[in-house]
Amino acid sequence: MKKILLTAVAVGITGFLYSCGVKTADMSPEKKAKIEEIGETASKKLLKTLKGELIEALKRGPLHAIDVCSKKAIDLTKQVEQELNRGIKIKRTSFKYRNPKNAPDEYEKDALAYFEKAIKEKKPLPKFYIQKVKENGKTYYRYYKPLKVMPVCLTCHGKLQNMDPKLQTKLLKLYPQDKAVNYEEGDFRGVIRVSIPEDALK
Ligand code: HEC
Repeated sequence: MKKILLTAVAVGITGFLYSCGVKTADMSPEKKAKIEEIGETASKKLLKTLKGELIEALKRGPLHAIDVCSKKAIDLTKQVEQELNRGIKIKRTSFKYRNPKNAPDEYEKDALAYFEKAIKEKKPLPKFYIQKVKENGKTYYRYYKPLKVMPVCLTCHGKLQNMDPKLQTKLLKLYPQDKAVNYEEGDFRGVIRVSIPEDALK
């Protein structure tokens, strides 16, 4: 009886996931390789752009650098999207987000959980995760690249007791519900999500 019930639950969950479009099994190796290639290029481009600006800004102090992250991150992301063209959209998201605008949607939560599961099971962090998603009748592939906390990130995402008090005050003012603190080096921080329209794969 128990077994039948479990099977029913498993089938139910699988059905639910399929109806949401979280399905990677129906992808040809060629398609997967193409998604990987576009996803890697896009996420690396965003990382390079953000990191470059961040390092420049940090030279003028962390208070100045916060402005880069809070005011420019979105513009820089749009700029990268324009350069990539083909309707590709990029977002940074996390369970522990700083800006509520970066909060994960249901698909993104599924991707974040996938990486967290691997970490919990002490498996190596997977390099990426792919989803097939239908939005407004159009098919998109989502490529997720995991982000880890590096020493440079700790200035603004590290332990509160080690944080510059002025920086803390500024962060609290900008983000009263900030969840993105108390990280340690090497922690899983979140993902870069690259959304690729099916047409862009041709
Ligand atoms: C100078 C301070 C500062 C540094 C250094 C910094 N961040 Fe952030 N980070 C921010 C701010 C401010 C935001 C909110 C941006 C916004 O409003 O969209 C943010 C947002 C993010 C987000 C988007 C999700 C969220 O929490 O809203 C990610 C992911 C992220 N940071 C990762 C990193 C990583 C990885 C590093 C190190 C390579 C890093 N950050 C270094 C200040 C910083």
